[in-house]
Amino acid sequence: MSPLARSEGGASAARRESVRVALGDRSYDILIGPGLIDEAGAEIAGRLPGIRALVVADERVAGLHGERLRLSLDAAGIPSSMLLLPPGETTKSFEHLMQVVDRILEERLERGDAVVALGGGVVGDLAGFAAGIARRGMKLVQVPTSLLAQVDSSVGGKTGINSPRGKNLVGVFHQPALVLADTAILDTLSPREFAAGYAEVVKYGLIDRPDFFAWLGTHREAIFTGCDERVEAIAASCRAKAEVVAGDEREDGNRALLNLGHTFGHALESCARYDPARLVHGEAVAIGMALAHRFSASVGLCPVADAEAVSAHLTAAGLPTAIHAIPGPAFTVDELMGKIAQDKKVVRSKLTFILTHGIGRAFVAADVDAEAVRRFLTAELAA
Ligand code: GLY
Repeated sequence: MSPLARSEGGASAARRESVRVALGDRSYDILIGPGLIDEAGAEIAGRLPGIRALVVADERVAGLHGERLRLSLDAAGIPSSMLLLPPGETTKSFEHLMQVVDRILEERLERGDAVVALGGGVVGDLAGFAAGIARRGMKLVQVPTSLLAQVDSSVGGKTGINSPRGKNLVGVFHQPALVLADTAILDTLSPREFAAGYAEVVKYGLIDRPDFFAWLGTHREAIFTGCDERVEAIAASCRAKAEVVAGDEREDGNRALLNLGHTFGHALESCARYDPARLVHGEAVAIGMALAHRFSASVGLCPVADAEAVSAHLTAAGLPTAIHAIPGPAFTVDELMGKIAQDKKVVRSKLTFILTHGIGRAFVAADVDAEAVRRFLTAELAA
């Protein structure tokens, strides 16, 4: 039996999984499987009877899947309209937030009505934030259409926009009422986008699920081609995230483990000026996780063989694992250290990082010596 097994559907053609995020009266289900977008209306109507909906969609995604969602809402008797937004990180702005909120008010939607986010992390974060503040908090349904959004950003209630001073600096925690992850939709992603999302899947194995990491090693290709293993990997990832979120909704403790690879990753994204031609978020996380393991090995915390196994797995998935893999002008160690210090609290030259004792043994290290990180990065840049 698979180490992940808690399946409901068995190995049928239309495998379905359901993961519960247990948060008391704000608990919700994540439904996972191929073709779910056609059942979105029925699933929403069953949980939120009598609602009206504003679908907030990435215009590229709406062109591919918007009509199916609309037909499904119509069939379930849910009156809806759609607001299209341009794709890309710059959409997570105050200007677009105002646009979504204004449309909610223009349509006279009430607190019991729903915002339905159709798209990747950008639309999910923006629409989720609008749902969290309009009418002091409306219902939110996430219909994530990227792998990254299905396994990470649509789950757990983090919403927000970017400020000119940095990413995700303005937002609220607002849990959805339902997440519908249609795994067949991922077939329309480019291989690069899919691989970037896969980095976040690997992350759950690296944090505290060594069996899952081993299982990914055997089933990676099937996950990429869209077999039942894809549903299983997404469900296992959502289960892992749901457990962490249920235990620490507002990141006062262990939720920080979900940031494995993100301190290095955010610094790299920032140095690359968030230019998707150079680096997208999942790629930055892949490099960041490889760096977190190599750094842990360099200070004697983690076996070198584990750090090598992590890089080998990410490389096989088509992901970068070293800073020099990022195209364009080289970064300097000062630039990187400046971004790392900005990202994390520095107390008397000590940094907070997610480090690891080995695969599946990540921990929060609040006393990492900034000079040791500088020496490590200098060596990485020279490699
Ligand atoms: N993506 C990290 C978190 O949701 O906490």
